[in-house]
Amino acid sequence: MSKKVLVIGSGGREHALCEALAASAQVAEVFCAPGNGGIGAVATCVPDLLLTDHERLAQFALEKRIDLTVVGPEGPLVGGIVDVFRGHGLVIFGPDKAGAQLEGSKVFAKRLMARHNVPTAGYFEFTDLEAARAHIAQQEWWPIVVKVDGLAAGKGVTVCLGPREAVAAIDEAMETKRFGDAGSRVIVEEFLRGEEASVHAITDGDTLLMLPTAQDHKAIFDGDKGPNTGGMGAYSPAPVVEGEMLARVERTILVPMLDALKHEGITYRGVLFAGLMITRGGPRVIEFNARFGDPETEVMLPRLRGDFYEMLYAAATGRLADLASGPDVDPRPCVGVVMAAEGYPGNYAVGKPIYGLEDAEALADVRVYHAGTRQRDDGGVSTAGGRVLCVSALGASFQAARDRAYTATAHIRWEGAYKRTDIAHRAIGREATA
Ligand code: AMP
Ligand code: GLY
Repeated sequence: MSKKVLVIGSGGREHALCEALAASAQVAEVFCAPGNGGIGAVATCVPDLLLTDHERLAQFALEKRIDLTVVGPEGPLVGGIVDVFRGHGLVIFGPDKAGAQLEGSKVFAKRLMARHNVPTAGYFEFTDLEAARAHIAQQEWWPIVVKVDGLAAGKGVTVCLGPREAVAAIDEAMETKRFGDAGSRVIVEEFLRGEEASVHAITDGDTLLMLPTAQDHKAIFDGDKGPNTGGMGAYSPAPVVEGEMLARVERTILVPMLDALKHEGITYRGVLFAGLMITRGGPRVIEFNARFGDPETEVMLPRLRGDFYEMLYAAATGRLADLASGPDVDPRPCVGVVMAAEGYPGNYAVGKPIYGLEDAEALADVRVYHAGTRQRDDGGVSTAGGRVLCVSALGASFQAARDRAYTATAHIRWEGAYKRTDIAHRAIGREATA
């Protein structure tokens, strides 16, 4: 027990990563840069280290003799943090700048999928505003989906019901330049019907280690209504993609994608996260991410047994094949309910004192992951963001896990707290009819 770990990021995902790494028998100390108001319980937060300052982060890792750095969000990966760390001889979990294009450029991902026959939505790409408008004018099938090429903080995707919306989305990206350079190329793609699922694998570029499946709820209101958010809850496993379906995802999507990356000369080390639509014709890719999902991580990791440090270190150093076996997974489902600030994903207040955290945490098989929180000088915790907490619970069934998660959230109060009341409704519906 001597290893030191640095986790980069400040959300619920990073809280869950820190907790899982701190639980490893090999790990002596976990640092988190910058961290948040709850991560301090399992790691030493380093609030003055900025995500964008890759060189300073690397200097910190050198000074502290960090054995493994784990990158949470996509921004630093796409910005090339892994290349900077490796340049200093540091071990870091995540794809390099070339590999992170899988998430950083939708055009890159689409071309790779098309070239290697990975099932996804049919698409057209545009760099010319007039050509994109002309394409919309002759479009016959609706809805269609307009996506900006680059990173856009989750706001670069518009499902368009008709030409007016589609032209507006294209103009916003290419003319008004709402997303800056990220919108100078757009994709117009086929709308997929089915149920969504998140499949994560850890890889060292050759070997894949499948993690528990999950599904998140992006819409703000019950019944999956209203605008999309960063995620209002999640659950694991996702029954829609278990068993033979998961084997099919691995065989027809993940393995060919890893081959495709290799073919490009990229040794992809990190998380390969496929956001999928399970259609009547089988699984198809909506998007790839180069990192762990949020809030998926907050429901996957409570189910993962075994040494998480060992898995990530093996992936980062190209030794995944040496691990004795795949991860041991708790068969019990996990349901995570996000507690957000009223008004989110629009405007919301911050700085509201949060009460009842200890009572919620004291419940068996419950974890309270902090996202937008801040530690006050008096030792208490206040809200500091739109998504404030993710409260995750394990249970003997989806229903039991959900009941426990909501029992826990009932202990937690602040002025203007908001949560959905129906997280995991699809899985519970299946359970009821099974
Ligand atoms: P993203 O920001 O890429 O995660 O996309 C946000 C959401 O838009 C996805 O989770 C889907 O619900 C939806 N979406 C994106 N692309 C498609 C598509 N081709 N067909 C149907 N829904 C899509
Ligand atoms: N929950 C979806 C994502 O992390 O992209």
